[in-house]
Amino acid sequence: MTDHWLAPLRLLLEPDQFRLLPRNPAFRYEQGQDGVWICPRPRYYHALLDLSDAEYHGAANVPLRRLAVEDWAVLPGLFVRAFTDHQPFVGVAPEQRDAAASEALMLTRTGGDGPLIERACFVSQGEDRLIGAVLVTLLPPGDPEEFDTYAWGGQPPPDAVERCEGWPHLTWILVDALEARSGLGTALLAAACGELRAMGFNDLLSTFLYGNDVSAMWHWRRGFKLLSYPGTRR
Ligand SMILES: CC(C)(COP(=O)(O)OP(=O)(O)OC[C@H]1O[C@@H](n2cnc3c(N)ncnc32)[C@H](O)[C@@H]1OP(=O)(O)O)[C@@H](O)C(=O)NCCC(=O)NCCS
Repeated sequence: MTDHWLAPLRLLLEPDQFRLLPRNPAFRYEQGQDGVWICPRPRYYHALLDLSDAEYHGAANVPLRRLAVEDWAVLPGLFVRAFTDHQPFVGVAPEQRDAAASEALMLTRTGGDGPLIERACFVSQGEDRLIGAVLVTLLPPGDPEEFDTYAWGGQPPPDAVERCEGWPHLTWILVDALEARSGLGTALLAAACGELRAMGFNDLLSTFLYGNDVSAMWHWRRGFKLLSYPGTRR
């Protein structure tokens, strides 16, 4: 999905320094003849929220509105601001961040992450910029602990969303770093889930990168249940 934006890094370190180097699980650390290599090892975990059980304690009381066509032009800026300190985009060179964000969002907009569930996509408008957004897409029906369930193998039925044929997936939830931890992410989630329930969906799937600790904590706090890593022997 975004893996090609995770670049390998070579550092010249003494063995003692290598030992002390802080580790992030999204990367593999190897000492070679030519230095220390820090190579991407992205692993995406999935989690499931039972919509009938969800509660949104601490949600900010802020106005939200449905995603509008003109928001796509400014969403990359919000994306960059949201991922200022978080994997997988914190490691992208500043001059490439807009391109990375635009590419990820274009994929979502054009159906590459499954059909967009437009009714469940919301934004929060600040004084002079977007400060939050939630984008929900539809993944195919199937076992959410299997890799195959995370992409449609072909064209989804045109009425898949209306017929609730598949899993709604929290593809992006973005909060401007300056507004973080004040309940905005929770408010966006509550709005999306309210619509999904009204449409007849029962659950919401989500994905986070191993190593994006804030995202993992947020999902846990919001009641998502961690699923087995796809492909794990169980
Ligand atoms: C994940 C994200 C959407 C959370 O939004 P938010 O508005 O900051 O979150 P809320 O205020 O609604 O929820 C706060 C909870 O999230 C978790 N959390 C948020 N920021 C945290 C941080 N810096 N450290 C630890 N936990 C954090 C905590 O569980 C916190 O609960 P607490 O305050 O009771 O401890 C936001 O951090 C973000 O946009 N991150 C970058 C994009 C991203 O990784 N999105 C998820 C994958 S698409």
